Amino acid sequence: MLTIALSKGRILDDTLPLLARAGIVPLEDPGKSRKLIIPTTRDDVRLLIVRATDVPTYVEQGAADIGVAGKDVLMEYGSQSLYEPLDLKIAKCKLMTAGAVGVPEPVGRLRVATKFVNVAKRYYAEQGRQVEVIKLYGSMELAPLVGLADKIIDVVDTGNTLRANGLEPQELIAHISSRLVVNPASMKTKHAQIRALMDVMEQAVAEDV
Ligand code: ADP
Ligand code: PRP
Ligand code: MG
Repeated sequence: MLTIALSKGRILDDTLPLLARAGIVPLEDPGKSRKLIIPTTRDDVRLLIVRATDVPTYVEQGAADIGVAGKDVLMEYGSQSLYEPLDLKIAKCKLMTAGAVGVPEPVGRLRVATKFVNVAKRYYAEQGRQVEVIKLYGSMELAPLVGLADKIIDVVDTGNTLRANGLEPQELIAHISSRLVVNPASMKTKHAQIRALMDVMEQAVAEDV
């Protein structure tokens, strides 16, 4: 049995067509079903529906053999052992700093609100800047508007969310897309199965670009 960890939303929506190319189609709509283990048209493959930030955990621990996760999530998770063999080129966005339009940076310590605390600490440490990182779980754009932070670090696509809140994108930290991640032990024990799936997905990605 091959177990694939996916998160609901854009990763699921963009990954299902790639899996379909390998004959893997969920037997229930994972977006609607309350079930968290979804069988597929291939009786050797099942899907686990998990939170986006939990995908690396399931795969690293071997509870899933493979998964799909945003590079932002993988950067924050910081695993040394997960394989990341394929860029699926889906869910593309940018990880950026952002702040209020026209507001200069404070002279002293910068307060940065984000769900990417490890990324934030690393980014500012590399620049030798003193920062206080404030952990949030969502709606980061609110923080500078109410004096909780000077800046945020979040993913940006169209920039609409920033604009709607009077913020502007500032520094680019990384270009982001979603990656196939593989458990190293599974890569050995289920090599043929995983290799075949990777080849089909790689081909589908190449045709789409
Ligand atoms: P979450 O519930 O964690 O917000 P999402 O489905 O929104 O999960 O995001 C999954 C991944 O998609 C993120 O890790 C990121 O890589 C990417 N992503 C997030 N927001 C956007 C966006 N607005 N446009 C494109 N890609 C995005
Ligand atoms: C993501 C992200 C930003 C927004 C950026 O939110 O957290 O808020 O997209 O995209 P934009 O630049 O095109 O506006 P998402 O839509 O995933 O909603 P969420 O808060 O439920 O994660
Ligand atoms: Mg989101």
